[in-house]
Parts: sequence; C-alpha cells; structure tokens
Amino acid sequence: MTSTVLGVNAVFHDPAAALVVDGVTVAAAEEERFNRRKHGKDPVAFSTWELPERAAAWCLEHAGVAPSELDAVAYSYDPAIATTPSVDVMGGTWEGLRTLFAERAPFFLATSLPGLDADRVRFVPHHVAHAASAYLAAGFGRCAVLTLDGRGEATSSLAGHVADGCLRVLAEQQLPHSLGLVYESLTAHLGFRRASDEYKVMALASYGVPRWLDELRETIYASGDGGFVAEPLDWERFAPAIRAGEEWAEEHADLAASVQRRLEEVLLDLADWLHERTGERRLAMAGGVALNCVANSRLWREGPFDELWVQPAAGDSGTALGAALYVAEQLGERVEPMTSAALGRGWTPDELESWLDRAALPYERPDDVAEEAAAVLARNGVVAWFQGRSEYGPRALGRRSLMADPRNPANLERLNDVKGREQFRPVAPMVLEERAAEIFDGGPLPSPYMLFTHRVKEEWLERIPSVVHVDGTARIQTVSPEREPAVARMLRAFERRTGVPVVVNTSLNTAGRPMVDDPRDALECFGSAPVDALVMGPFLLRRPGSAAGERLEAEVVAG
Ligand SMILES: [Fe+2]
Repeated sequence: MTSTVLGVNAVFHDPAAALVVDGVTVAAAEEERFNRRKHGKDPVAFSTWELPERAAAWCLEHAGVAPSELDAVAYSYDPAIATTPSVDVMGGTWEGLRTLFAERAPFFLATSLPGLDADRVRFVPHHVAHAASAYLAAGFGRCAVLTLDGRGEATSSLAGHVADGCLRVLAEQQLPHSLGLVYESLTAHLGFRRASDEYKVMALASYGVPRWLDELRETIYASGDGGFVAEPLDWERFAPAIRAGEEWAEEHADLAASVQRRLEEVLLDLADWLHERTGERRLAMAGGVALNCVANSRLWREGPFDELWVQPAAGDSGTALGAALYVAEQLGERVEPMTSAALGRGWTPDELESWLDRAALPYERPDDVAEEAAAVLARNGVVAWFQGRSEYGPRALGRRSLMADPRNPANLERLNDVKGREQFRPVAPMVLEERAAEIFDGGPLPSPYMLFTHRVKEEWLERIPSVVHVDGTARIQTVSPEREPAVARMLRAFERRTGVPVVVNTSLNTAGRPMVDDPRDALECFGSAPVDALVMGPFLLRRPGSAAGERLEAEVVAG
C-alpha cells in the first residue's frame, strides 16, 4: 500500500501540518514557527478559515510531494458534528461562522495548495484526531485512550478502547463541561494568556495550599459514566482577578493549587473508570490537558495503568499528525510509531555556513562542537543550541534549546531574564538517560518528551539547585545517546568537567515569541539576547568578552 496523507489543524489555535507517507511520519510543523506569531493565530471564530499554509507547503516540499499527488488531506475537525449550525453565523459567539468556515475548508485548502482536489479532504472529528495522535503514534495495538482539552466540535473529552488497532469510543463529555476550559478560565483570571499560559498556573500551584479543594469537589467531579461535571466557576469568590502589572498573592497561588489538585483527582477517577471498562494495562493520552506534567506524573504514580504514553504535541497542533495517521490507517497503511519529535525543519552544515557567511559573524568549526559547548557551560556560560530538525510540539528537546549550568542557583533568574519571563517559572533539566534514575524518581523513566515531573533525590537537591522547582520537583528530559547523539556527547563532556550529568534546558526563544526555528531566528536571538555562545550545527559562535571565552585548547580540562 502506498499513500500520502497531509494532516491539517486549523480551527482553534496552534495551526499545524503533518505529512504521513506510506504510514511513516516524514514531517510535522507548527505554523507559528513560520509566521513568528505565538500559537499561530487567535482562536476566534472569524480566523477559522486561516490555514497552516507555510507549514503545509514546507511538509510537501520536504517530501517532494505535489498537492495533486496527495491521496487525502485529513482536517482535524468535523463541522457535521459541531454544536452550532452554519446558518447561525450571526449568533452571539459567532460559533456558526466557525462551522461555516470549517465546512468550506476543502475549498480554502484547494486554493492554498494549487492542484489539490478538494474532494480529497476528509473531516476527522477533533477528539478522534487527538486520540489517534496518542495510540497510533505510541504504536499501541491495544490500549485505553483518553483525550482531554478545552473543546472540540461539541465535546471536551474522549475515553476509548483500542483493540486490533481500531478505536472504539466509550464516552465523550459534551460541552459546556470542560476541564480544559475551567483551567483556561482560571489562567485568564490570574492575568495570564488563555489557551496559552496554562503551564504558568501549574507552576504557580506549587507555591500554594489547596485550601478550596473541598469546595471544588462539589462542582467539578467525574460523573461515573466516563465523563464529568465541570462548569465555569466564578473565580472572584476565591481571589480577585489579577490585572496587567499586578503581582500574584498567596490566595492566587492557593486557588491555582486547589484547581490543580482537583484536576488531578478527576483525572484519576476517569482513569479508574477507563481501566475498569477496558482491562488494559496501557493508557495513551493527548489533548491540551495532557500537557499538565504534574497531573501526568500523579496519574503515573497513583493511577491504575502500568504504562502511560503522552503525545508530545498534545495540544491542538498534534491533531494535524493524529488526523493524518488516522486517515492513513483507514487507507490500509500500517502506521509506524513516532520515535522522535524532531519532525520540523533542518539545515545542512553547508547551508548553515552560508547563513553565517552572509551575517559576517566570526565562527569556528571545532572538532566536536558538543565538547566546546560543554566547556562554555562549565564556565557558567549560557549556550543557545541549534541542532538538527526542530521539534514538533511546545517543548524544546535539544534541537532549539537554551542551556546553562544547573549547579549555579542564579541561573534560574538569569535564564528567566534572558527570556523575559516571570521569576516563579522553573527551568528544566536534561539528563543522560542512563544516569536519570540516580538523580530523579517519582515519574516514568525514560522520559524523552518532558511530559512528566520527577522528584529530585535528596542528595542532588544542592547539586543542581537551578533546576529544582519550589516543591522539589523537576520536569526532566532524558537524553538517549542513540536518538540524540550530539546532546548526549555534550552532557557527557559536561559531566567529565563537573561531575554532573545534567544541564539546564529551556526553549530557545525570547519573551512572547515562538521558538527559534530557522537560522535567521537563531542569529536574531543571538544578536539580541545575552547568551554567551551559539551552536549551529557543527559551528560555534562566541560572544566576545563573555563566559564563552577562548578556544578549548587554552583551557585546563578537569578530570
Ligand atoms: Fe483540542
């Protein structure tokens, strides 16, 4: 069987495209990395027609596929099951306009991808696309599957059973009940950006006491049929809204802690129900709520499943991949599991060198750039690391990363300053896979996609202070030498110098901007942010007079 399927997510936020050829995911990218607008576009009804045009064009170009050669375009939303009909375009929320635009998506797509036959576009229900991005990408022929987000067409969750590769939907929660929307509305109440900054609420929760947990148990609860009750709450009853420029207070952290704990409890109840109904030992998860790594770890520790796999692009961008995999399977393909999130753009050394020559910046090509980067880090330099194909999904996983020495407690503040972020936000560690169990526990290992938090073991708390969150946890990325050889060499070299196989890893971007994707973004970031060195493929750029210092030969290497 041969088939070429383009997946497209366009309806709400995080527009993205993915290309699956003969069951193999060959490319996947988010539009924000191209248009340089965080989350790609605003999730309003009248932007539904906007497509991930550049991401889609790049996926096709990367694989050398013309739009006319596509067997199918899988669109991760089905207007036929939307709550509001398309005739109601002037309704209060303009929801009918969303339906209308989604119905017309085949024509928008045929315009955007000249040569595409509009009849090849297939609508895949939003939560089925999320679900497929989990169980098909995980490569689980049998498992339970759970998706939770803000909303799809008419639902906010799907609980299902996968057997012989086929999904059977067991339960779906109808709107307005939505765990994702409850969390989103709290995000807005706390002065953060809705449908974007939910992870800030999760970070803030660690500073609070869940003093309203009992009250929340009355209004947010699993309903015993695979769904739940969760209507929007009047947060003013608990703590006043935070307006622009205002600081959070204890009550805000307590409210975040209460909602976070309640989310975890409901998730555990849903998992129990699903486990009982399916009898499976593995659970695959996706949907924006599955990016809540604190809840994921609690589910891993206390939940009924032995194994938990979470799609790294768990938010809506991942539905582009899920929809494509789902349709590829329907076309008779055997779908290959996902083994890496590095599905975006990459450049050859020659291409990178021509970018550097054009920028007329001094650069070196050391024998091993990973070794040089480790030397800069060990001297407490901050390194911007641009290596290989970019990540699909919100986490930097050693392709577009900003790195620092975890031993220096001041590096948390320093990196938050570089990125213009709030100081309560933690930064995360990357660690050699084979060393992770010595340093971290309380979550699954390996953990290659930063989707779980782990406890930092007592004896390491003082050794890697800049990556330990206020509650003694860290959201780790374990690095496999086979999958990420350059990062693994850098970690080994850093350990040789310092005795610590851990490096701070945060995404390579500055405040409010999408992650760096192409060489121009990387050079702009190096030019405008106080980083000491930039690694681009095999090349190294040092900031004169900084911790990047001189070449390695001049240095005495410890150990
Ligand atoms: Fe979603």
